Amino acid sequence: MMKLEQIYEGKAKKVFKTDDDNLCIVSYKDDATAFNGLKKGTIMGKGAINNQVTNHLMKLLEQQGIPTHFVEQLSETETLVKRVSIIPLEVIVRNIAAGSLSKRLGLPEGTPMKRTVLEYSYKNDELGDPMINEYHILAMEFATKEELDLISDYSLRINQILSAYLKDLNIQLIDFKLEFGKLPDGTIVLADEISPDTCRFWDSVSGEKLDKDRFRRDLGNVEGAYQEIMKRLMGQ
Ligand code: TMP
Repeated sequence: MMKLEQIYEGKAKKVFKTDDDNLCIVSYKDDATAFNGLKKGTIMGKGAINNQVTNHLMKLLEQQGIPTHFVEQLSETETLVKRVSIIPLEVIVRNIAAGSLSKRLGLPEGTPMKRTVLEYSYKNDELGDPMINEYHILAMEFATKEELDLISDYSLRINQILSAYLKDLNIQLIDFKLEFGKLPDGTIVLADEISPDTCRFWDSVSGEKLDKDRFRRDLGNVEGAYQEIMKRLMGQ
C-alpha cells in the first residue's frame, strides 16, 4: 500500500490518498481543540491512543454486525480505511445528561434520563455545527429517510454494544458522537473515530471524567485520562 498526497486535514486527523482509489490512510494527531477551534492545545500521545482505541472499538462493532470503514491498522497513529463520502451529520447519543444538553435543558450533569436521546448536528465549522432535526436533514437532503432510519438504528445499536462493553471495564458511557460515510455503492458505514475526544467516559465508581472534558474544562491530568482509557480497553 502506497501513501500518496494528503487530501484533507481536520482538527485531529489528516487523511491521505493511497494507490488504491477505494482506500485512504487516516493519521491521528496530538493536536486538541475545543469550542469549534477557539481553544487549542496538545495532548501528548493522544494520536496513538485515539487511533488504537477507535480501531479496537470498530473491530468490536464489526463483530456485532455494524459495518465500519476500518480496514487495517498500519502503525501506532495510522490506519487504512475505506474511502467514503462523509454524510455531513454528527449523530450524538446521550444516556446521561451532560455538556450542552445539561446547559440547554437545565439538567444537572449526571442526571439519568428515562430513555436514550439522539441528536443531530449539521457538520459545518463555519456555522458552529448547529443542531438540526429530521425535518432539516430531509429538507436539506443530507440523507434520505431510509438512510436516516438506518443511521439512527445503527447509532442506538452501537450505544447498546459500547455501553455494555464499557460497563464491564468500570466505564460509564455518558454520551458520544458518531459520523457515518457512504461507500461508492451507497452502503452506509460508521466512519471517523470513537475515542476520548468524541465520547464522555466516567469512571463507574469514582465518577472521575476520563475524556476530553479534562482538556475543555482545564481539569488537569488530561494525558493520564487518555492513558487510563487505553489501559482499560487494551490492557496497555
Ligand atoms: P456536547 O454535550 O458538547 O454537545 O457533546 C456531546 C458529545 O459529543 C460529547 O461526548 C462530546 C462529543 N462531541 C464531539 O465529538 N465533537 C464536538 O464537536 C462536540 C461539540 C461534541
